[in-house]
Amino acid sequence: MTDHVLIFDTTLRDGEQSPGATMTHSEKLEIAEMLDDMGVDIIEAGFPIASEGDFAAVSEIAKRAKNSTICGLSRANFKDIDRCWEAVKHAKSPRIHTFIGTSPLHRAIPNLTMDEMAERIHECVTHARNLSDNVQWSSMDATRTEEDFLCRTVEIAIKAGASTINIPDTVGYTAPRESADLIRMLIEKVPGADEVIFATHCHNDLGMATANSLAAVEGGARQIECTINGLGERAGNTALEEVVMALRVRNDIMPFDTRIDTKKIMQISRRVATVSGFPVQFNKAIVGKNAFAHESGIHQDGMLKNRETFEVMRPEDVGLSGTSLPLGKHSGRAALRAKLAELGFDLADNQLKDVFVRFKDLADRKKEVFDDDLLALLSTSEGEA
Ligand code: KIV
Ligand code: ZN
Repeated sequence: MTDHVLIFDTTLRDGEQSPGATMTHSEKLEIAEMLDDMGVDIIEAGFPIASEGDFAAVSEIAKRAKNSTICGLSRANFKDIDRCWEAVKHAKSPRIHTFIGTSPLHRAIPNLTMDEMAERIHECVTHARNLSDNVQWSSMDATRTEEDFLCRTVEIAIKAGASTINIPDTVGYTAPRESADLIRMLIEKVPGADEVIFATHCHNDLGMATANSLAAVEGGARQIECTINGLGERAGNTALEEVVMALRVRNDIMPFDTRIDTKKIMQISRRVATVSGFPVQFNKAIVGKNAFAHESGIHQDGMLKNRETFEVMRPEDVGLSGTSLPLGKHSGRAALRAKLAELGFDLADNQLKDVFVRFKDLADRKKEVFDDDLLALLSTSEGEA
């Protein structure tokens, strides 16, 4: 049986918190529209108390959203929560997300005892619940919070009416087995846990955000918090495209589905890269320029015979027109022949041999050999013949 996993996108909140990634009002509206259209279940549109601009963007996104739930972030205090509600209340489906840091390091900042923090959580979730029937609670830095205290915070939030409980790995510290065990433990131990949805929110400081999110789902989480291109503070958040495609491609061992129209992934990835000013690294999983490109002879030959030899998913499924076989010094005869055929040249074996020698010579001097280079090579062979 396939279980459903909700996709909560926080590109416009946690993603935008990445230094230098600020987006304009109209860019935010455009990204929100794309997220809404591609099937994201919940869009965290911003942090309404943070600035007038954030408030305006969240309000406008809330008014325009057609399908997604629109969520705003608020610290655990009444002023933040009220401001958040003022912004999200316009949505067909609004959500208030409130949080506090529960680990010893984070408790020390507002200098609250465990009892004082417990009381604050109770008051704030109750207050949010009086405004909205869709409240998400986050125990920030959950993965570094004492187990007993974490259970206590989660229990209080559930009793006060939160319907989603988020367990953030705020500093990207956990590892897959621990991530799964933590969610499993909370579901087993905390009274009322079976009535709510558990969410996983991972950061990528040790490069494990995607693995940790998927492990949390195996432990019982049914909401993944993520961003397009993994944009986010420091090393970023879990990348939406990675978890969605992993669940799709490995549905045999992770039988969970999402509502995401994966064909829209490339388009939004490129748009987020442009508006945030954060280019996507070439070898980034799913959306990198090289994710479906093969240069070496053995790989190109394999791909020309059967694309499954070196690809575990179809580029068309993420919105690309197809695989690319760039020609370079590692390329072989089969790819050169295929490229020439694509350009309209059907060479005899001896002609191909000649062009191949000169192609290799050129490729040794150039990173990539383009169509125009090949046409130039062909015209000199014809001239010499
Ligand atoms: O990383 C984090 O803990 C957060 C919370 C505000 C949910 O972004
Ligand atoms: Zn975060």
